[in-house]
Amino acid sequence: MMNPKLIKTLMLLIALAGLAGCEEKIDYKKEEGLNFDVGQDLQSALQQKRMPQLAIKLGCNNCHALDHKLVGPAWQDVGKRYQDATDYEYDDKHYPVAEGLVQKISHGGSGNWGVEAMPALDPSGAEHEKLEKLVGFILKLGKQ
Ligand code: HEC
Repeated sequence: MMNPKLIKTLMLLIALAGLAGCEEKIDYKKEEGLNFDVGQDLQSALQQKRMPQLAIKLGCNNCHALDHKLVGPAWQDVGKRYQDATDYEYDDKHYPVAEGLVQKISHGGSGNWGVEAMPALDPSGAEHEKLEKLVGFILKLGKQ
C-alpha cells in the first residue's frame, strides 16, 4: 500500500501538470491574432485547410477560403496572381503590392476578380497592422 501522503503529492503534481498543459494550449495573444506568425500559421492553415485565426476573427472567412472561390477569390489564387507583381493600382494611385492590397481590403472595391465587391473592411485604418500580416500570409500562400 502506498503512503497516503505520497499519493496526495502525486495527485497534486498531476493536477499541476494538467494546469500547465492547459495554459500552453490557450494562447490568448494568438487567439486575438496579435502574434500572428506568417510562416507558422501558413503551415498549420495548409495542413488543416483552414483560414488562420486572425482571418476568422476579422470575418474574412465569410467570403474567402484558402483553396476555392466563395464570394471572393480563393486566397491561393490571389497569392499566385500577385507573387511576381511589383505594382498595384488602387483608386488611381500606385502602391507596392502588399500595401495596395491592404488599401483595397480597407476601403473595398471590385473589378479585379469579377463584379462582386469587397466592402470597406477597415476604413479607419485601425486594423492596418493585422491586415498587413494577412496580406503577407496571402502572398506567401501563392508561392506554395
Ligand atoms: C463580404 C465579402 C468579403 C469579405 C468579408 C472579405 N472579402 Fe476579400 N474580396 C471579396 C471580393 C468580392 C473580392 C474580389 C474583388 C475584386 O474583384 O476586385 C475580394 C478580394 C480580395 C483580395 C484581392 C484583391 C485584389 O484586388 O486582387 C484580397 C487580398 C482580399 N480580398 C483579402 C481579404 C481579407 C484579408 C479579408 C478580411 C479582413 C477579406 N478579404 C474579407 C469579398 C470579401
